[in-house]
Amino acid sequence: MFSTLPFFCDLRYGAPRMVGMLLELENINLNSNLYTMKILSGIQPSGQLHIGNYFGMMKTMISHMETSELYVFIVDLHALTSVHDRERLAQGTLEAAADFLALGLDPDRCTFWVQSDVPEVCELTWILSTIAPMGLIERCHSYKDKVAKGIAASHGLFSYPVLMAADILLYQADQVPVGKDQKQHLEVARDLAQKFNLEFGETFVVPEPAISQETSIVPGLDGQKMSKSYGNTIPIFLEGKQLKKRVMAIETDATPVEDPKNPDTCNLYNIFKLFASPERLQEVRNLYLNGGAAYGYIKLELLDLISERFAEARKKKAELLADPGSIRDILHKGAIKAREKAVVTLDMVRDRVGLKY
Ligand code: ADP
Ligand code: TRP
Repeated sequence: MFSTLPFFCDLRYGAPRMVGMLLELENINLNSNLYTMKILSGIQPSGQLHIGNYFGMMKTMISHMETSELYVFIVDLHALTSVHDRERLAQGTLEAAADFLALGLDPDRCTFWVQSDVPEVCELTWILSTIAPMGLIERCHSYKDKVAKGIAASHGLFSYPVLMAADILLYQADQVPVGKDQKQHLEVARDLAQKFNLEFGETFVVPEPAISQETSIVPGLDGQKMSKSYGNTIPIFLEGKQLKKRVMAIETDATPVEDPKNPDTCNLYNIFKLFASPERLQEVRNLYLNGGAAYGYIKLELLDLISERFAEARKKKAELLADPGSIRDILHKGAIKAREKAVVTLDMVRDRVGLKY
């Protein structure tokens, strides 16, 4: 019976869940390599990548390399909604790629590319935008948040979630690891996939968000979500005095050292816990609860932990950036691989909607 399974997987939407059900029925070993999950996520090259990006998305993505069909890309078209500076965007794209590679992403074990190198995504965006209900897009809070932070209100910024849906649906991704801030955008992608499938026939896999509870929102220096657009970040590769300046700037309250404090509402503790060993974290937690937690010392300890954690990757990044041509080669090869998948989906979509005559 299972000789037909790969065929079944390719043609049916929602395939992983259905395969799961079949495996259960037949009591088949889940480790047998019948279906490899497609995992996809992207990151904007709109500024230096930070520890929120690392814990919220990059680390998870890199860990999926072993077990999944992995798609990782730099979303430069999305970044255009907030960056209108040629040098900054182009250099940011190379740097973001170097960051991923330095942190351990192996381009031979995944598909790694730059969004705009696969132009099919723009065509799919348009097609999806013709079925995207205004109300659905108007409800997206990230548009309002960004405008409130001073990013110019443009049509591109407004329709950002439709481009993101196209990113995901074009590659028929099963799972999308993101931070919690992207959950609503994932819901838009799911809604549009379902709506399209209903209107034009089964075409898209309906993607699932994968949000790690523990690191769903890494706080920034000011306690809001750490974000490139909010200027409150600790960049992954910062070092020396610059890193010290950022870490010392983490906002804390004025509770005296000897007083008990709530660790879970403390911005500094919530960043510290991402880097400390479980034993050390417990000790520091006890200091918070019982009195004796000195913010200044904890910050200095955090500074060392961050420096050490990324020391190797920092060296690797410098080597990569010394030869930007090799980064471009990797990305161009990745785009060829990505495009092979993209054209298959787009061809099917064009046919379904009547753009093939
Ligand atoms: P930024 O808000 O800094 O511009 P992006 O929007 O490019 O970051 O996010 C890239 C990825 O990193 C997304 O998956 C996003 O959910 C995740 N991410 C960004 N900031 C955080 C954060 N503070 N905590 C957890 N994950 C984050
Ligand atoms: N909007 C995402 C962010 O700001 C980036 C992104 C664009 C993305 N396309 C995507 C994430 C597709 C996951 C899948 O973080």
